[in-house]
Amino acid sequence: MRRTHRCGELRPAHLGQQVTLMGWVRARRDHGRLIFLDLWDHQGVTQVVADPRASADAHGTMHAIRDEYVIAVQGVVRARPKGTQNPELATGEIEVAATAVEVLNATAPLPFPTDDADSVDEVLRMRYRYLDLRRASMQRNLRLRHKAVKALRDYLDGDDFVEVETPVLTRSTPEGARDYLVPSRIYPGSFYALPQSPQQMKQLLMVGGVDRYYQVARCFRDEDLRADRQPEFTQLDLEMSFVEQEDVLSLVESMMVHLVRTLAPDRRLTVPFPRLTHDEALDLYGTDKPDLRLGMPLVDCTALLGESEVRIFSDVVAADGRVKGFCAPGYGTASTADLEALQSLSRTLGAEGIIWLQVTSHGVASPVARHLTPEEQRGLVEALGAAPGDLLILVAGATDVIHGALDGLRRDVGRRLSLAAADLAFAWVVDFPLLKWDGEERRWNAEHHPFTHPQPDDLDRLTTDPGSVRASCYDLVCNGWELGSGSLRVHERALQEQILALLAFTPEEAEASFGHLLEAFDYGAPPHGGFAVGIDRLVAILAGTDTIRDVIAFPKTRQASDLTMRAPAPVTPAQLDEIHLRVVPRKA
Ligand code: AMO
Repeated sequence: MRRTHRCGELRPAHLGQQVTLMGWVRARRDHGRLIFLDLWDHQGVTQVVADPRASADAHGTMHAIRDEYVIAVQGVVRARPKGTQNPELATGEIEVAATAVEVLNATAPLPFPTDDADSVDEVLRMRYRYLDLRRASMQRNLRLRHKAVKALRDYLDGDDFVEVETPVLTRSTPEGARDYLVPSRIYPGSFYALPQSPQQMKQLLMVGGVDRYYQVARCFRDEDLRADRQPEFTQLDLEMSFVEQEDVLSLVESMMVHLVRTLAPDRRLTVPFPRLTHDEALDLYGTDKPDLRLGMPLVDCTALLGESEVRIFSDVVAADGRVKGFCAPGYGTASTADLEALQSLSRTLGAEGIIWLQVTSHGVASPVARHLTPEEQRGLVEALGAAPGDLLILVAGATDVIHGALDGLRRDVGRRLSLAAADLAFAWVVDFPLLKWDGEERRWNAEHHPFTHPQPDDLDRLTTDPGSVRASCYDLVCNGWELGSGSLRVHERALQEQILALLAFTPEEAEASFGHLLEAFDYGAPPHGGFAVGIDRLVAILAGTDTIRDVIAFPKTRQASDLTMRAPAPVTPAQLDEIHLRVVPRKA
């Protein structure tokens, strides 16, 4: 038997045809004389019916099979009897009357159903990922991912970019996250590292005259995992020579618009993408990856409350802290339980708690209302742009702490009020600082990576006031996620050496870690810059899921293990000998 059609293909136009379908059995219904089943493949389902009068053999086989058996069905396409059509189904007007049924493979009872497994424990889904992949949503996500990558490739191909593959076995360089290391058999005691990104290789490609590079690149980082982080993930990585920041932003923006118009034409976009400086993003939303769908900007109320009788406010202001808050429109209806949940969330996020005020037609209702003067009450309502029925949420403390807390509270309230519409709220965040101070280690770290070019206007402050130097660096955010990141790069040896020195590399360490790049800069490095989009995050946002695990065929768990392949796993002593390694048991 050879398959003539897919399971989503047959229509009334095929009536009377002899067909052969192959797929998995779903929803078998044994009505005694007639046996029905839905035959499923990646494309859809077709109802199959076995009638002993048409074929006793086919009826006998269909009697014995169970859900998820893999079968081949030969039969004739016929119209479903009146009243039994299913308008929800593309094949809902027809059915296949089986003349022969062959079991291609039996199936053991499944650990979970493949039709509606949403409530299934994720560990089980990961363990049997191949079954999880049979679910409609996972099928949709994999195909969406394929289409997204194709649309991105098509766009860049049309714009003179060349896809170049770069090594996966490369060298460990101190850039940010921890490396995954691969021991060398040929060089005892030496290691390759898996790339955290192709950053240095793409810069070397620019020195090599490639001009416009891109790659759908696998990246590896041994870091703590979250819903939007995997130890191996995929970037759409790109780099361009002889460009300014504006060239990169406009290329990436057009590429994203092309992608959305191709794959999700109904999703609303604001074009051009709004731009925020890093300072504005923190000031207005408490984060450098704001979800602009939610509105509810933060307002600084410090000046209003510095003299307040409410000790939490005045104490914090006296200690140089700040009071900021936002207005949740219409959320005056929040129940005591809701408000307690917000209190406890704010504490999880590191703040002391929230002060809430319900705005009424007479003023405000709040545990602190009687300690606030009428001017303070009016001032808050005005400053936060509130109206009766709204809820004001304030947090007092050190700036970093209140920003972190208010960002989390804003996202939480946004969810509660269903403010996150189906829009795709892209935005650029620009003017990041070049460096950030590590108070514990008492040293500067790169805010992005060590190859980011300082903004030309700030170059002379590199020695006098490094913390104030802005970078030619930009992030693309969407719906509260950091979707991508890029910068113009340093292409001059002297400047690169100066920045590495600021990052506390001795000349010897700089040479040992980055000598290959510094040397390349001696041989005609063009000015260049680029970007990398996180493909997993991009597809997750398009698919409307909140974890990137849902758009990766075989993801790792939060504990970085692959439950399907059961990796990582021990290897044999002989394998360890070959790579000159001895395992030291973990100390109890
Ligand atoms: P960066 O480290 O910001 O920049 O990474 C770029 C984008 O990659 C995605 N991403 C991740 N996705 C899933 N899991 C992870 N662990 C993970 N880490 C990062 C994010 C992020 O915005 N070489 C530079 C880019 C450049 O400067 O051109 C880089 O890798 O979406």
